[in-house]
Formats: sequence, structure tokens, C-alpha cells
Amino acid sequence: MAYLSRSQLQKFQEDGFLVLEGFWSADECVAMQWRIGEIVAEMDVPLHCRTEFSTQEEEQLRAQGSTDYFLSSGDKIRFFFEKGVFDEKGNFLVPPEKSINKIGHVSPHQDASFLYTEPLGRVLGVWIALEDATLENGCLWFIPGSHTGGVSRRMVRAPAGSAPGTSFLGTEPARDNSLFVPTPVRRGALILIHGEVVHKSEQNFSDYSRQAYTFHLMEAAGTVWSPDNWLQPTAELPFTPLYT
Ligand code: FE2
Repeated sequence: MAYLSRSQLQKFQEDGFLVLEGFWSADECVAMQWRIGEIVAEMDVPLHCRTEFSTQEEEQLRAQGSTDYFLSSGDKIRFFFEKGVFDEKGNFLVPPEKSINKIGHVSPHQDASFLYTEPLGRVLGVWIALEDATLENGCLWFIPGSHTGGVSRRMVRAPAGSAPGTSFLGTEPARDNSLFVPTPVRRGALILIHGEVVHKSEQNFSDYSRQAYTFHLMEAAGTVWSPDNWLQPTAELPFTPLYT
């Protein structure tokens, strides 16, 4: 069992994120990429579900809110795509295996805007680089110390059956780009992400993919998972307890 050292914990508490290089071996990364490749090869996306993913408020409402593909994705494998992947008829413009977003670009945000809890500070993001993440291919950027001022906006579910399916309370403030610090990491690195730290990744304009595996953990004891969050546990797939 691995533990954070006192200085690592302190760094996380100060910055709101922490890089742990070498968390996975190259073999473990390859095994994960292999499985992702299998899933993408079997991917069958209905035409009306060719949904592009963006945290830009307006586009998100248009692209995601109108379909339950996104809202019901919590207990299924669903596919979200980079901009410019489809033509106007929904045909792929790039090879499908290069088209998946969650394996790219996200504009500045706090995870707690989408995964809201009371009290705040109970959600932790885990982001593992399956390939080297560089300045060119879309590494993560953080505003160190931005995790202490609460959450600036929330994405909430609309009443069932209404369109769009989600809306935002509050707005994402304009962020000073010069405050963002890039965190290029090598394959196998794990980055811990505080739920309120402001982060982003740039679009990958390089010839290299930048696959990552990411998920979130919540300290459930004494925490209320907002019933307004887009992601809700279901009978088929309740949130999995890590320990009890
Ligand atoms: Fe995030």
C-alpha cells in the first residue's frame, strides 16, 4: 500500500493538485490502452447521439442537453467527441479511434461544477496518463491554490423530460491565462485533482495522441451528493464503495 508523504500531502493541500510520476508501469498503461482500443473498435454510436463534448456553457447545452445520451451515461460506456469530428450529416471526418474526447481538450473548469457535494471538498479527481502528456498534445494546466474559493457555477439537471436536460447556475468567470501552470507528465503518472481546483487542457494539435484514464472519488461519510448533479447512481450501477 502506498501512502503520500507528509510533504506530498502538504503540496496537495497548498496547490489543489499533486503529480505522482511512475504510478503505473508502461505495461499497465499498455494493457489499459489495449482495452480502450477494443471498446472503441466495437463502438456503435447512433447518428442522433453523435454528441460533441465541451465545457463551454452554450455548446454544452446545445450538444448535450438535448439528448439523454449524456444524462444516462453514468452506468454505461458512452462516447463523447472532439469538435470537428463529424460533418453536418454525422459522418466521421477523422478515424473513429482518434475522435474520442475524454481520452482531450477541456476549457477551464472546476470538477465540483459538475460533481457537486455538500459540504464541498469531498470529490477527488484521479487522472492517469496512459501516454506522455506534453505541452503539444494536451497536458493538464492548473491554477495552483485556486481550490479554496468555492465553486463559481453549477451544472444542474432540468426536470425529467424537459429540454435542454441540463442548465448552469452562475457562470464560469474569465480566468487570467497567465495563472495557469502546465503539468506535462510521463506515461504512467497519476495526477490527484482537488474538486475545486481550476484546471484545463488545450486542444491537441500534435500528431501524438494523449490518452488518459480518469475517474473521481468521493468521501461519502457525512456527504450529500447533490440530487441536481447530471450523474446519478442507479440501481444497476450504484456508486462503488472503495471501503466501508
Ligand atoms: Fe476536470
